[in-house]
Amino acid sequence: MQQSKIIAPIRRYIEPFQNKASTMLSQRLDQKVTDKGYVPVYATGVVAQDWAQYTDTDHTVWAQLYARQREVLQGRACDEFLQAMAQLEMGPRQIPRFADLDAHLQSATGWRLVAVEGLLPDEVFFGHLAAREFPVTRWIRSPEQLDYLAEPDLFHDLFGHVPLLMNPIFADYMCAYGQGGLKALALGPRALQQLARLYWYTVEFGLINTRAGLRIYGSGILSSAGESRHCLESTAPNRIGFSLERLMRTRYRIDSFQKTYFVTDSFQQLFDATLAEFKPIYARLADQSDLAAGDVRAEDHVLQHGTGEGWATSADT
Ligand SMILES: [Fe+2]
Repeated sequence: MQQSKIIAPIRRYIEPFQNKASTMLSQRLDQKVTDKGYVPVYATGVVAQDWAQYTDTDHTVWAQLYARQREVLQGRACDEFLQAMAQLEMGPRQIPRFADLDAHLQSATGWRLVAVEGLLPDEVFFGHLAAREFPVTRWIRSPEQLDYLAEPDLFHDLFGHVPLLMNPIFADYMCAYGQGGLKALALGPRALQQLARLYWYTVEFGLINTRAGLRIYGSGILSSAGESRHCLESTAPNRIGFSLERLMRTRYRIDSFQKTYFVTDSFQQLFDATLAEFKPIYARLADQSDLAAGDVRAEDHVLQHGTGEGWATSADT
């Protein structure tokens, strides 16, 4: 994802409505879902990517996922993402070498990649982002896991997250998020939970409004063929205009496609939202109840009020 343990819900990698996979997943996760989400791996160290260790099978998995997503994302992903893919020279046939991508990232926005084995503790994760380092899981899923994976892997982290780090405004937003996370650590779990929702509904599952229509920028969607179509074309989910405090009150789904997608007008809008001092925001939110993932409020800027078809009835995270 990379992401911290508190931002851990993982299921964006799956096609949730494939019955077999969903059943397997719910069985596997039932005992591990907490109010912080599912935490499958907990590691701290930066490791070497060790590119020579990738097998032919690993590269084939990359190539299959890459080809599928490149096709489905045409006309669905935002232009900034598609352009950055080309600038990064992220190849279709072999797993990229992090050092090669770093050369482009460093010159564009000053970011670099660090290889890790899995999810990170909050303080480590936030510290990396604040230092313009993006943690990328070094291993890739198996051929049996193309549509189902219960934890972040290289494809999600690299294909889903890294291209937009080439965009100067989005790159600044990610850095500001890390700085905000470091501050939130001192404020307790409630602040971290609300901040995690900001990451979830923007970095992982965000949509952006463009002249050509809605487009995807969230990495959880960008790395999922099924959700790439669902988020834009289904009548089931809500699509609601970005509103920082509204979003930070909103619970979310980790076991299915999202019930609500928040739509930003621009990356500048995201960055501007993080310029504010968050402490007063946390204080205001302390008196307000959480909202269910599918709620629509009278004050919302509603682009689509979803039908709710297929929505899970279990509790939101
Ligand atoms: Fe992620």
